[in-house]
Amino acid sequence: MTGADLTFQFTQNWFAQNAVIWDKLVPRHKPQRILEIGSYEGRSACYFIEKFAAERPIELHCVDSWQGGVEHNAKAMSAVEKRFDYNVALAQRRVPHPVKLIKHKSLSHPALAKLIFINPEPVFDVIYIDGSHQAPDVLTDAVMAFQLLRVGGLMIFDDYLWSMEELGKQDSFNMPKPAIDAFINIFQRKMFVVRGAPVYQLFATKAFA
Ligand SMILES: C[S@@+](CC[C@H](N)C(=O)[O-])C[C@H]1O[C@@H](n2cnc3c(N)ncnc32)[C@H](O)[C@@H]1O
Repeated sequence: MTGADLTFQFTQNWFAQNAVIWDKLVPRHKPQRILEIGSYEGRSACYFIEKFAAERPIELHCVDSWQGGVEHNAKAMSAVEKRFDYNVALAQRRVPHPVKLIKHKSLSHPALAKLIFINPEPVFDVIYIDGSHQAPDVLTDAVMAFQLLRVGGLMIFDDYLWSMEELGKQDSFNMPKPAIDAFINIFQRKMFVVRGAPVYQLFATKAFA
């Protein structure tokens, strides 16, 4: 192996700003089974691996179509997927505990349906929702993911305030926020928003089945 092989291959750094707050909020949930919807080059997956497989064996499910969302260049996605494979393999080699990594190359809704079918009881400690940013997709991801999150588990929504259009010209179809708000409002007796977290991502714990 050469020195270059030991370096992650990331071209995007969307995740860097999250690490400080994740370091505070996520370890409380002692994640052993983690599900992420939207993996791209594996930046958040590598965070989960490096942070939690340093402490215990983990199972990490990564769901991504690797076709990109409306905001991505679809032609670049096969190279993105290759970087994902490389990065998560490298992260796994660096940690002391085994990582069972299950890659679901699929649109999120059929992948979630399959996971619900296989796991009639909720099994995930942490679920990160960062796939499609279109409101109907985000709402469906959230409702389906709820079925998989154990009581006491943490659901994290990325890009709560993201919109495809510029400020003042937003189209609520192209925004996660209306979907996240609808989910949180409808599940208000079952999901509690974590207070004190910055608002660009929304953290909510499952309180009741
Ligand atoms: C913002 S990126 C994820 C970033 C990643 N969590 C990170 O930290 O680097 C969004 C990803 O969601 C995927 N995606 C978009 N719509 C999807 C859908 N309906 N089903 C599955 N994956 C989807 C895209 O292919 C893209 O890789």
